[in-house]
Amino acid sequence: MSDSPAITEASVESAVAAALEAVAAARSVADLKAAKSDHVGESSALARMNAGLRALPNDQKAAAGKLMGAARGRVNQAVAARETALAQAEEAARLESERIDVTALPRRRRQGGRHPLSLLQEKMGDIFVGMGWEIAEGPEIEHEWFNFDALNFDADHPARALQDTFFVDPVERHVVLRTHTSPVQIRALLGRELPVYIVAPGRTFRTDELDATHTPVFSQIEGIAVDKGLTMAHLRGTLEHLARQMFGEEAQIRLRPNYFPFTEPSAEMDVWQPHAKGGARWIEWGGCGMVNPNVLRSAGIDPEVYQGFAFGMGIERTLMFRNDLTDMRDMVEGDVRFSEQFGMVV
Ligand code: PHE
Repeated sequence: MSDSPAITEASVESAVAAALEAVAAARSVADLKAAKSDHVGESSALARMNAGLRALPNDQKAAAGKLMGAARGRVNQAVAARETALAQAEEAARLESERIDVTALPRRRRQGGRHPLSLLQEKMGDIFVGMGWEIAEGPEIEHEWFNFDALNFDADHPARALQDTFFVDPVERHVVLRTHTSPVQIRALLGRELPVYIVAPGRTFRTDELDATHTPVFSQIEGIAVDKGLTMAHLRGTLEHLARQMFGEEAQIRLRPNYFPFTEPSAEMDVWQPHAKGGARWIEWGGCGMVNPNVLRSAGIDPEVYQGFAFGMGIERTLMFRNDLTDMRDMVEGDVRFSEQFGMVV
């Protein structure tokens, strides 16, 4: 072929050198493919020289053919070696990029936080379970008889008034949203064998406006024990134990005379907080007393044989002064950032 470059040792060597340089410079399988097409492809110098072999005089063919064969062999070998190396490197890089550490800890999606009120309620329940008491439940929508009558409230007691109590329509059905957990006292006494030692945590309702210290939906934990020979000393000892479990060994309680229709005598219970933010203080915690004989009678129990004590406290209030919270609204808004502060992320 007229345009075939001359086949000389120098021209072949320089074509091979250019080819080897391009092969060595290839950084990827794709680079190498381009280099291969440039240096051994149809229009490459080596291919064109090779094509020129045919046109050579016969006596030169053997030597030139040998030269070309060796040249093409070197280049093809270099291409093959580089191809293997690049393919291996690319495979290794791919494996590395797809590497999975099966021992790594999964990144957990934040699901929320358990509400501090639920946890506190459980904690208080657990303290009683630890003393052998049982957890009891009652309905949040309650008959007026359980909420008031059986608890010895007079027919015209002001607590029954519409402005304090949510009545379910129509009012003549005498169904209310329970205003305290005390109706569970009656349900427990009617439904269980004596002696009874139960606590009943749960939601309660009063027609209060929501503000820093009130909420129309709140929770209480009720306790009632009915057995032979129970006295005020058992009540006091039980509440003292609860206070120490909740507030530490130095916690003390004090009872101040008070009135509830369903206990006699009745008391308001205060707890001593030696380390409160604003300084040591007594803080009102709940109501308590000896179960009124009339209540025992409404549950068919002979008060000459059995005595009981009962108590009830607000769980929101407990959380407030246990954790120095000042605004009850934080507890009802359901903001997960509030719950998380109590370390209760689930
Ligand atoms: N139920 C009363 C209240 O809501 C508290 C209480 C419970 C008082 C048990 C005495 C005995 O205020």
